[in-house]
Amino acid sequence: MRVAVTGAGGRLGTALIKALGASPFVEEILAWDLPEHNLDDPGSAERLVSLHRPDAVVHTAAWTDVDGCAREPAVALRRNGTAVGEMAAACVEAGSALVMVSTNEVFDGLRTDGRPYEPTDQTNPPNPYGIAKLAGEHAARAAYGASGEWFMSAALASGPTDSAATALAIVRTAWLFGQPGVDFPQKIVAAAEKALAAGQTLSLVSDEVGCPTYAPDLAAAIVSLIGEWHRPGGRGLGGIHHVVNGGQASRAEWARYVLALAGIDIDTADVPLNTWPRPSTPPTWGVLEPTPLPGGPLRPWQDAVSQHMTLINYRQEASR
Ligand SMILES: NC(=O)c1ccc[n+]([C@@H]2O[C@H](COP(=O)([O-])OP(=O)(O)OC[C@H]3O[C@@H](n4cnc5c(N)ncnc54)[C@H](OP(=O)(O)O)[C@@H]3O)[C@@H](O)[C@H]2O)c1
Repeated sequence: MRVAVTGAGGRLGTALIKALGASPFVEEILAWDLPEHNLDDPGSAERLVSLHRPDAVVHTAAWTDVDGCAREPAVALRRNGTAVGEMAAACVEAGSALVMVSTNEVFDGLRTDGRPYEPTDQTNPPNPYGIAKLAGEHAARAAYGASGEWFMSAALASGPTDSAATALAIVRTAWLFGQPGVDFPQKIVAAAEKALAAGQTLSLVSDEVGCPTYAPDLAAAIVSLIGEWHRPGGRGLGGIHHVVNGGQASRAEWARYVLALAGIDIDTADVPLNTWPRPSTPPTWGVLEPTPLPGGPLRPWQDAVSQHMTLINYRQEASR
């Protein structure tokens, strides 16, 4: 297979390039990023896809600055919504499959029954980033003729189904960590060391709950979905997939786990999310129910964080 990845230099894109490179069924990887792939350029997707005609495209490129999206919602809609529709239309035209990466921020997070969000649950984005990503989902579904209700539950079906054969997957994920860039574990280590030096308590948000997800684990899951689609008699890509590491955590619980691994002993205090007002409001309950994957569920987030922190020099990374 020839597989293209947009946003190839980003957190997920980097992990995908590595995972695809280790996959036996991938013959060629096309790594697309700025400036050749530009979400601001309406002709960019069509030019690349019609020239290279990949078997599948994994579209990770996005404007992921959620506060920036809140300040400039029209730009967010262009990059995270309209540009997805252009990519999907180009893929349909070329006969390519598409994996569009989306977010838990399509849900408002106001649920109080403690249940994780499933693909069949009602979307209602709480901020312009989520609004734009949901617009991208809708645009991709329209291009693939996958706008019916069936698409929402297609990933939950076991075994081959007509609906699952659709060559479009929407993969929603949450709270990505991993290289490159300074991620949440590194930010927490940096904040703790600063607070320790100043003799202060470290304040941690306890009322925002989500699913920490390791970019390499998500990348492996996406590759397994593409492999299953490629396999003769496989069940296809079609549907909305929720792909996150196992379990859930508040930001405070995640931070304390990181601090324990880093051996940092500091007084912490739980504070509400609104302690630091931001232009963008995240869902307070952003927990996704994982959908079935060919290789089984992803490992618990704690195992992934533990591995991540043995692989990186988090102190050095955090001080960048
Ligand atoms: N990070 C999270 O916690 C999270 C949670 C849920 C869902 N997601 C979704 O997961 C996907 C991957 O996220 P990530 O964390 O890997 O993001 P990331 O590290 O910010 O990477 C985004 C990629 O998109 C590229 N990009 C940004 N603006 C662009 C533009 N105008 N034209 C073309 N490319 C552009 C970036 O290029 P440059 O680096 O050159 O700017 C980068 O390669 C995104 O679709 C995101 O919405 C992320």
